[in-house]
Amino acid sequence: MSQPSLSLVDTDPAELAVDAIVIGLHSQPDDGGALLPAAGAESIAAAFDGKLTSTLALLGASGAPGEVTKLATLGTVAAPLIVAVGLGDEPSGSAPEREKLRRGAGAAVRALAGSATVALALPVPDDEDAPGVLRAILEGALLGGYRFAGYKTKPQPRRLPVAALQVHVPDAADPAAGAEVIRAEIVARSVRLARDWVNMAPNELRPPQFADAVVAAVQGTGLEVEVLGLEELKAAGYGGIVAVGQGSEAPPRLVKLTYVPEGVESPKKIALVGKGITFDTGGISIKPTAGMWEMKSDMAGAAAIGGAMLAIAALKPPVAVSGYLAMAENMPSGSAYRPGDVITMFDGKRVEVFNTDAEGRMVLGDAIARACADGASYVLEASTLTGGQVIALGKRIAGLMGSEEAVELIRAAGDKVGEPAWPMPLPEEVRKGMESDIADICQTNNAMDRAGHMLQGGVFLREFVADGVEWAHIDIAGPGYHAGEAAGYWTKGGTGVPVRTLLQAIDDLR
Ligand code: BES
Ligand code: MN
Ligand code: ZN
Repeated sequence: MSQPSLSLVDTDPAELAVDAIVIGLHSQPDDGGALLPAAGAESIAAAFDGKLTSTLALLGASGAPGEVTKLATLGTVAAPLIVAVGLGDEPSGSAPEREKLRRGAGAAVRALAGSATVALALPVPDDEDAPGVLRAILEGALLGGYRFAGYKTKPQPRRLPVAALQVHVPDAADPAAGAEVIRAEIVARSVRLARDWVNMAPNELRPPQFADAVVAAVQGTGLEVEVLGLEELKAAGYGGIVAVGQGSEAPPRLVKLTYVPEGVESPKKIALVGKGITFDTGGISIKPTAGMWEMKSDMAGAAAIGGAMLAIAALKPPVAVSGYLAMAENMPSGSAYRPGDVITMFDGKRVEVFNTDAEGRMVLGDAIARACADGASYVLEASTLTGGQVIALGKRIAGLMGSEEAVELIRAAGDKVGEPAWPMPLPEEVRKGMESDIADICQTNNAMDRAGHMLQGGVFLREFVADGVEWAHIDIAGPGYHAGEAAGYWTKGGTGVPVRTLLQAIDDLR
C-alpha cells in the first residue's frame, strides 16, 4: 500500500486549508500541570483568543506523551479540525525528547486515518538541532501513517492511510530540511516493506515466495542479488539451513543482496544477517497451540535486513554492505530434522540438535559463517531468537550481544532512533553448559536448562563468527512484533525493528 506523500510548508499554520492540523501540547509540572501549546502552534493559539488550552483541558487533554485530543475549529482557523498531541514536559533536544516527538507525530497521523491532507505544526527549532528534530517528526508521521493492506474482501475506508502530509518548518526552502524529506521517504518505505512482510499470512510467504518478494523489491536498485535454492544449499554445505528447511514442502532459501559504493575503496565490509523463519511451529519439538500464529513473525529479522538493504541502495553510503537472509519454514513432518541429529554447518562445525525449536541459530550459524567467508569486517545480525529475550527485557527493548565495538555501535544507534537495545553478557559458564558428548557443540544447554536462555543463543552464534570480525547479535523476539494495540508510530503487527538502527549504525560507521 502507498504511503502518505510528504511536503514541507512554511506558511502560517492557521491559514493552511487542510483537513486537520496537528499541534503539540506540553504539560508544565512546575505549574500544576497547566497546558502549554508547543512551539509551532502560536498562530493557532492566537486564533483561539487565549481559549485554546482551556478548551483542550475541558476535552480531557493533559499533555501526556502520545495522548491525542481532537477539537473542531468552527472557523477560527482554516483547517476544520485540530489534533493536539501530548508531548510531556518542555523539550530539551535530547534523544528521548525526539522519541516523544516521533511517537506524538505517529499517534496523531494514526488517529487521522482516512484523511486526505494533514498538516503537522510541531516544534521544529530554527537552529542546528532542526534536521534531527525534523527527522523524528517525519519518521513518526510516515510510520504512524502505515497501514497493512491486509486480506479483507471489502474496502475499509477508515483503514486507509493519510494521503498527504504537510510538515511545517521555519524555512521550507532549506536544503537540509529537503534532504530530510528525501531520507524519511526512503527510510519509511523500507520500514513499511519490512512490516508488510511480517504482517503477511504465513501461507502467503513461505521461503520461495519470500525470496521472490525480496528479489522483486530490489529490482532496478543496482543491488547484486544471489539466491541459493535447496540443491545449491545442499551442495555448498549449508547444513543448518537445509536441516531446518527439510521438514517443509516449501524449500529453504539463502538470499544475498550486495551494495557496493561507487568510486570509493571501502575498507569496511558490513554484513547484515537476518533470521527468516517464515513460520516456526517448533518442528518435532512442537510448540503449544496458544499464540503459535504469532510465529508468522519469525522472519522479522530477515524482513528488516531486506528493508534496510533497499534503503541502503537509495541512500548510497560510502561503505560496502551485504545482506544475508536465511529463509526456512520450521515444520514437523516425516522428513523433519529431529532432536539428536548431528548437523554439519557451513563452516564445518558439527552441532548436536537437542530441540528443533531452536532453529533460528541453525540457519543463522550458516549465514554468519558465509558472511565471514565473504570477508565481512562487521556482522550485524537480527533475529526473533529467544523467548528469553522477552522475559528478560520485555517487548520494546532488544537483547544485544557481541563484540564490544559492535555492541556499542548498535546500542548508540538504537538509542538515537528510538529502538533501544540493551547489552547482555556472553558468560563462559553458559558456553560450558553447551558442550556436546559427541559433536563440537550442543545447540542448547546440554541438560536442557533454560537458565540464561537468551545468552545461550548469543553464545552459540559466536562460534560462527570468524576471528577479528566485529559482530552484534540483536535479539528482537519482543520488539520485532507488536501484538498489542497500536501506540505512537507502532501499528499493530510488524514493527520494522531494527531497520532504522542498522541505517543509523551504517551512518555512524562511515
Ligand atoms: N522464534 C522463537 C523465539 C520467539 C519466541 C520469538 C517468542 C518471538 C516470540 C525461537 O525459534 C524459539 O522457539 N526459541 C526457543 C529456544 C529454545 C527451544 C532453546 C525459545 O525461546 O523457547
Ligand atoms: Mn523456534
Ligand atoms: Zn524461531
